[in-house]
Amino acid sequence: MLIDSHAHLDDEKFDNDRDKIIKDLNNQDIELVINPGSDVASSVKAISLAKEYDNIYAAVGVHPHDVKDMDDATIQLLSSLANNEKVVAIGEIGLDYHYDYSPRDAQKKWFIEQIRLAKKLQLPIIVHEREASQDMYNILKQEADGNLSGVLHCYSGSLEMAKEYLKMGFYLSFAGPVTFKNSRVSKEVAKNIPLDRMLIETDSPYLAPEPKRGKRNEPLNVRYVAAMIAELRQISFDEVAIETNKNTKKLFFNK
Ligand code: NI
Repeated sequence: MLIDSHAHLDDEKFDNDRDKIIKDLNNQDIELVINPGSDVASSVKAISLAKEYDNIYAAVGVHPHDVKDMDDATIQLLSSLANNEKVVAIGEIGLDYHYDYSPRDAQKKWFIEQIRLAKKLQLPIIVHEREASQDMYNILKQEADGNLSGVLHCYSGSLEMAKEYLKMGFYLSFAGPVTFKNSRVSKEVAKNIPLDRMLIETDSPYLAPEPKRGKRNEPLNVRYVAAMIAELRQISFDEVAIETNKNTKKLFFNK
């Protein structure tokens, strides 16, 4: 059974068929989905989905796009939301210098504050990074003190940087872009890092993989990501499914 380690099923693009999609997951060999929040409202929504459905788990956090409105009270709120038994991580959090929707100083400050919350609560982090590789590296290097675990979701950096993150103990997750024809670097990383440090995801409703590119993405499309990784590494689809399933449970469920 596959796991989609990152999907935003709380997104309004699922308002018309969310229930059907979630109920159909087990028929499609998807064991479970982890739904990260991107702000307080979506974190609350992720928790309510997780309460409603056995196969959904939640993460709570504020995405770098939205940290401009954050304050200490938001950290308190996230901390209390994280008490829910189906919350398995703090995320998604990070740095996004491509859009720069929040000032970079605020992005760095609140990324660090949310990492420290995760360490305090002993939860892993789900990290988003776009065009901020140097600051990301510096912050994770500073904060990874043996008491921090997590995943760099939809990893798009170099193999060299990937090896640094692996040394710090992080997992790397691959999504639709690894299936795209022009994704030479992602393919190189997915081929060469240890299988026991890889996760797979869809980032639904975004980033649909080939051959669904351009459409609304759904958790069942995680199979195309798994198939690409199997092809790149010249191993079976089942081996990718079994190993990434195991890795996801180890990271988020301490199993
Ligand atoms: Ni995401």
